[in-house]
Amino acid sequence: MPDCPLKHVAFIMDGNGRWAKKRRLPRELGHKAGADAFERIVNYCYDIGVGAVTVYAFSTENWKRPKREVDALFMLFTEFIDHYVEKLKHRSVRLIFIGDREPFSESFRKRIENVEKKTENNDKMILYLGVNYGGRDDICHAVNSLIAEGKTNITEEDISNRIYTSLSPDPDLIVRTGGEYRISNFLIWQSAYSELYITDTLWPDMKESDVDLAIQEFMKRERRFGGL
Ligand code: FPP
Repeated sequence: MPDCPLKHVAFIMDGNGRWAKKRRLPRELGHKAGADAFERIVNYCYDIGVGAVTVYAFSTENWKRPKREVDALFMLFTEFIDHYVEKLKHRSVRLIFIGDREPFSESFRKRIENVEKKTENNDKMILYLGVNYGGRDDICHAVNSLIAEGKTNITEEDISNRIYTSLSPDPDLIVRTGGEYRISNFLIWQSAYSELYITDTLWPDMKESDVDLAIQEFMKRERRFGGL
């Protein structure tokens, strides 16, 4: 779809735990269902011509969860990285991890670097995967890297050119599932003018038609960017 109205859409994938609880399943199985939904939704965004997708898979705060849950999430990320080609079904997607990699194991860091290198020439869509991502950390990271280069008088443009998603325009639309009305430290610099769409649908239940609904709602809104 060449005239897709969205250049960049971001998702706060919330509700895996509640989805599992409703079925009396362990939370880990909610995340597994969430990983399936993630692939379904990313593939759909690609198919309708979205230029960039950012997802919040693991926040800087998520380390506070039980070790068993954190380990299960990292297993899902690792499995996704290892099978990304078949999982993306030959779609030309460039994968970029956003977030602080410092606490990751050496082997996980290497995996990320490899997959980023392997996909760096894929040019139809960028998929930004937020793992140990925090919006405030994103801004600090950008500012510190500018200071390290001796930059003074830092401008908005400098920061926009240095944040983790700098290869793409700011998101037009941020979708949050699970019915919570919060931005939760996600893309706080980039979301200055993003439209927000919140749905009660739990992330593992998210379907292609739910993305269509979000886009329809987005198209109804008049975007003025502070003007009249
Ligand atoms: C928030 O829901 C969700 C997360 C902390 C994890 C999101 C991760 C995925 C959807 C898996 C992504 C997989 C890949 C391969 C990128 P919650 O568990 O806090 O839900 P709750 O609010 O219902 O408890």
